[in-house]
Amino acid sequence: MTGTIYLLNGPNLNLLGKRQPEIYGSETLGDVEAAASARAESHGLATRALQSNAEHQLIDWIHEARDTAVAIVINPGAYSHTSVAILDALNAYEGPVIEVHISNVHKREEFRRHSYVSLRADGVIAGCGTQGYLLAIDRVASLVKSSI
Ligand code: DQA
Repeated sequence: MTGTIYLLNGPNLNLLGKRQPEIYGSETLGDVEAAASARAESHGLATRALQSNAEHQLIDWIHEARDTAVAIVINPGAYSHTSVAILDALNAYEGPVIEVHISNVHKREEFRRHSYVSLRADGVIAGCGTQGYLLAIDRVASLVKSSI
């Protein structure tokens, strides 16, 4: 299998490991990206790991993925709950999309229970900690394999 999975992380996820570790754990974003890359490699896939605090930058990367990515794994952070623009960008992407939330958003404040991105995502993983990214890579690998 060959192909690149875009691993996109949204606002504040650059602070992973330092930000509210009781909710988001102690692993850094670098740790997560390295583990996701190794997991993708075990499936014969690669990752392009990107993080931004800016909505427009995430949208530009989703547009880029239209031509270069076999799948998108995205933790849109707080933009999950607010961004119709990210939903629209993902609707213009044709491959599999898996949405990841490190925390169980359904166990938290009411406003976190709705995600615009979930209207497009083929799968949603929430509350599995940073392991959720690896589960998402495994899922994407099976979807990509079954589409060949
Ligand atoms: C998050 C959940 C969001 O509600 C929050 O705004 C985040 C992180 C998660 O990974 O659990 O920034 O997406």
